[in-house]
Amino acid sequence: MIASKAKSLSGSVAVPGDKSISHRSVLLGGLASGTTRISGLLEGEDVLNSVAASRALGALARKDGDQWIVQGTGNGLLLEPEGEIDFGNSGTGCRLYMGLAGAYDFPVTFVGDASLSKRPMARIVDPLKLMGVQLVDSREGCRLPITLRGPRVAAPIEYRVPMPSAQVKSAVLLAGLNAPGITTVIEPVMTRDHSEKMLAGFGAVIEVETAADGTRTIRLEGQGRLTGCDIQVPSDPSSAAFPIVAALIVPDSDVTLPNVLMNPTRTGLITTLLEMGGRIEIANEHESGGEKIADLRVRSSELKGVTVPGERSASMIDEYPVLAVAAAFAEGETVMEDVGELRVKESDRLAAVAAGLKANGATCEEGKDWLKVTGIPGGKGLGGAGSGSIPPVATHLDHRIAMSFLVMGMAAEKPVKIDDASPIATSFPEFVPLMRELGAELEDGNV
Ligand code: S3P
Repeated sequence: MIASKAKSLSGSVAVPGDKSISHRSVLLGGLASGTTRISGLLEGEDVLNSVAASRALGALARKDGDQWIVQGTGNGLLLEPEGEIDFGNSGTGCRLYMGLAGAYDFPVTFVGDASLSKRPMARIVDPLKLMGVQLVDSREGCRLPITLRGPRVAAPIEYRVPMPSAQVKSAVLLAGLNAPGITTVIEPVMTRDHSEKMLAGFGAVIEVETAADGTRTIRLEGQGRLTGCDIQVPSDPSSAAFPIVAALIVPDSDVTLPNVLMNPTRTGLITTLLEMGGRIEIANEHESGGEKIADLRVRSSELKGVTVPGERSASMIDEYPVLAVAAAFAEGETVMEDVGELRVKESDRLAAVAAGLKANGATCEEGKDWLKVTGIPGGKGLGGAGSGSIPPVATHLDHRIAMSFLVMGMAAEKPVKIDDASPIATSFPEFVPLMRELGAELEDGNV
């Protein structure tokens, strides 16, 4: 796909539902007794794979009008799946269901696409082993395909999460649902807290204590009853990030995005863009289902480079690729600290971003766990990947790399071509029509 410089972007568009909340709605709905009704579920490939996983474990799930209706098995009552479960590109789906089903006394085989099969799974399997789960089979280096089998009775553990990861925290808590007694997760750096909030919403007995230094201790009582509930999924701030950055860097733009999730564990990008001088107005702030929601109005801005502190990285971990694109249009240097986790996402995002920026004429320096981008206000000379002798941007099966570089092409002097737009469907299937509705010039590069 090729993105060319747009005249302006304007209008109001609804970004699809939050991916993290969507996975957890389907997973917990499929586990709880009774019915869960979900409105605004993200129907991206990643979440649809979670729907299939819940079905494989005994839940019923169907769409009724705009709602998804899920009937769960009841906690402790998942069924042994008939075949392997395929999570496609989704690290979140795979790792959360490893926690959920891994502690049951039957084998479950987890498989995924080429990207997911390269990602580290020891971070999930290690704590599960402490609970008595057996790693029956895996590829070298604890990579998919992986088969787990739980013990007759799983042991509740106390586990200190070694890296900032909501997926690891969530996997241990979900496994703890099937263990007698209290499972404790200690989280030195706060990560997205959707699992804790939603477990409480489904009736789990769970408490969170935050120490003076910010360390959080989460205690969950295992083998309790979970009951279905109604969920309204707000718009995904990690998807909103693409039209937000596009509106900031395309001249004469004025874009409104209603009902975006504003949970403070997810708003690091907005904080950073405001520091860079971005004109982002946060209006109509309110609460729904225990989450903060707001409408965002974003206008073209003259951005300035900043240093993004490492402490902020967990609250914007998925947004660095598109921040790097914003930085390529900002005056001066933008430094992103302590972002080593980006190397184990859907692709090695530090390498993919650095290569893509360089292919499009931007100045970028990459360290083991940091990235530095020097911007060109107005985007003069930027772009050009996929024309002449320059190959298109390599997206490595990574939806956020694909969308970030299409955003770059919307404001760069020369068009930007990416090698594969199909991964966008994992998290934001409406991206192309929605951006076109705002005024973006996107064309299929194969036509
Ligand atoms: C997610 C957690 C994050 C994030 C991912 C979604 C979640 O991963 O990158 O897109 O829903 O729990 P880590 O737990 O690896 O940081």
